[in-house]
Amino acid sequence: MAASLSDSPRGVAVFGSTGSIGRNALEVIRASRGRLRAVAISAHHRLDRLEEQAQELAPRFVIATDPQAAAEHAWSGLPKNTELLVGPEALERVAADAEVDTVLAAIVGSAGLHSTLAALRAKKRVALANKETLVMAGPLVRRMLDQPTSCKNAALANGKVAELIPVDSEHSAIFQSLGCGKGSEVERIVLTASGGPFRTWSREQLAQVTIDEALAHPTWDMGPKITIDSATMMNKALEVIEARWLFDLPVEKIGVVIHPQSTIHSMVEYVDGSIVAQLGPPDMRLPIQYALDYPQRLPGPAEKLDWTRRHHLDFEPADFDRFPALELGFQCAGAGGTSGAVLNAANEAAVQSFLEGELHFTEIVPACRSILEAHDHDANPTLDQLVELDRWAREEIHTWVCA
Ligand SMILES: NC(=O)c1ccc[n+]([C@@H]2O[C@H](COP(=O)([O-])OP(=O)(O)OC[C@H]3O[C@@H](n4cnc5c(N)ncnc54)[C@H](OP(=O)(O)O)[C@@H]3O)[C@@H](O)[C@H]2O)c1
Repeated sequence: MAASLSDSPRGVAVFGSTGSIGRNALEVIRASRGRLRAVAISAHHRLDRLEEQAQELAPRFVIATDPQAAAEHAWSGLPKNTELLVGPEALERVAADAEVDTVLAAIVGSAGLHSTLAALRAKKRVALANKETLVMAGPLVRRMLDQPTSCKNAALANGKVAELIPVDSEHSAIFQSLGCGKGSEVERIVLTASGGPFRTWSREQLAQVTIDEALAHPTWDMGPKITIDSATMMNKALEVIEARWLFDLPVEKIGVVIHPQSTIHSMVEYVDGSIVAQLGPPDMRLPIQYALDYPQRLPGPAEKLDWTRRHHLDFEPADFDRFPALELGFQCAGAGGTSGAVLNAANEAAVQSFLEGELHFTEIVPACRSILEAHDHDANPTLDQLVELDRWAREEIHTWVCA
């Protein structure tokens, strides 16, 4: 019987438990009436918050990924049976631990790559929030999932094969909507985008964007990096690349539409013209719970849509001129190979520079484009190559900022 259907609690390792997705995941676990158990939690710097979570949940493992921050923390309140592990390698060890059934990959950025790959190698279920894994290493992940001993159709999995279930709300919506037809009947998938805080802003206004304005998202409450990515629409660009690898679709079958209400989370258009969409309130606890409990649907803590209110569902085409990140996303999804890793690292470094006041909002995408164009593309990279390119692209952004 599938692990998710058995009576014993499903052991969940929440990597990045102190972040926005991580904290939402712990709410889902708390509300699960014992069917989900936090076996491990991790953080990088917010160790007070991590220790508070440990006191409440008494997980088997607490992982502090930054050794220096871990050494400076007192750790006076850890529960007796909780083991403290230090350093990023501990994530990989715990990902393969027998008590862990599911790894919720909620670390931000390329720092989440190795532990996600380790969980897939250990044939665990990965509830994937860390889209950077697929953006950077989509071809490698695809190869892992397509191995005969693995399973690309999660519905066939029985706990002995790797499963990759999306947590990103758009990909969760597509994953759910794909169940209504065969792969060969899919005309295209359509990712919805809120358009971010600057959807209606002119080029002149975009040139004046401040850090605080970029950090204020109209519909979603998220960590700072993805909030800036939503404002530049780089988040949607990364999601196009994520979808290309997750669903193994050619880029021509992926579209983006602006839907400001964030009620439709994404859609699948079938060859007969029918469109199947998944709707819900903008609450990440929904796709998190879906990924953890899949294939079951159970009552949970997420808000419900208020049907006593009037709702509008508006759609408008995405503006590739004002938001040039989108074009980069489609280019990288089409090119594959090393391009996603370069775009991802360049963008992470550029966003960091923007948040530190070193780069203007409208310089983020041109900086990424110039690094992307300068890189030596390889269609079949190894993991070592991708890691090296990640380092190179960050350095290049630093040089670009200083020039
Ligand atoms: N937030 C959303 O609604 C949302 C929606 C869809 C997808 N996602 C994706 O989910 C992931 C997490 O996003 P988030 O918004 O939850 O980010 P976040 O709030 O910034 O949290 C990031 C988590 O990662 C940890 N972390 C940061 N740097 C690390 C490192 N170098 N090594 C190990 N751990 C590190 C953080 O620890 P500290 O707290 O100690 O810094 C924190 O636990 C991202 O990939 C994002 O694209 C998020």
